[in-house]
Amino acid sequence: MRVLIFETSELAVDRVVRAVVEQIERKPASILGLATGGTMEPVYDGLSAAYRSGSVSLAGVTSFNLDEYVGLSPEHSCSFAAFMREKLFDRTDMRSNRANLPVGNAVDPDAEAARYDALISELGPIDLQLLGIGANGHIGFNEPTSSLRSRTRVKTLTRATLEANKRFFADGETPPKYAITVGIQNILEAKSILLLATGSAKAKAVATMIEGPLGSYCPATALQMHADTTIVLDREAAAELTLTDYYSQVHPDGQDAPYG
Ligand code: PGA
Repeated sequence: MRVLIFETSELAVDRVVRAVVEQIERKPASILGLATGGTMEPVYDGLSAAYRSGSVSLAGVTSFNLDEYVGLSPEHSCSFAAFMREKLFDRTDMRSNRANLPVGNAVDPDAEAARYDALISELGPIDLQLLGIGANGHIGFNEPTSSLRSRTRVKTLTRATLEANKRFFADGETPPKYAITVGIQNILEAKSILLLATGSAKAKAVATMIEGPLGSYCPATALQMHADTTIVLDREAAAELTLTDYYSQVHPDGQDAPYG
């Protein structure tokens, strides 16, 4: 794991935006794995700004989002499909027919999960998988005790996740209890992984992910088994790490240190 610690969340976000732009520059037809959530909003703001300034085009990109709520149509304002349109797709030249998410209101959610899994296998592997992390250590909606070999399927969301995501729903509206999510095995099949965590609410999960024992109790620990994972943190999210000195020695201020 490459652990990059930045003084501020803005610097951490900039690093992630730069990595995505560089990936698309290297390979305009990149396959990106995309995430939703509050942490990703400034990343998509940054990518949209890079598009507006002419530094990047998403016209050749194919994307696969991690997850979608069961029961919500892509048109529902609280769906992840709507989030992605609003935050990224409609603000760039991303082609809608290449932007994939599980269909939340499919008649048969299990069949939809299988269709989505097969599509990723057919078009993949994903070149760069963007991830956030839940305060409970989830990646995607792979809640604690998810199999570390899991593939796309329907998951029951924990009460903690429902509580954390309530803010995206209107007052009185109940967030769906189930989601279709890619599995941990799908995530591990990406060629490279870039996880962003900011703020003190993530500090405990981040420390377990990086330094804790591998186990499904903290699903993000599975990333320890991936050979090309970069974890981008701000100072607050890094606060509970034990080996901070070492990470700063290897990557002072989140930069690559020259040998010697
Ligand atoms: P957040 O969600 O960015 O809204 O904190 C992250 C996640 O649950 O993966």
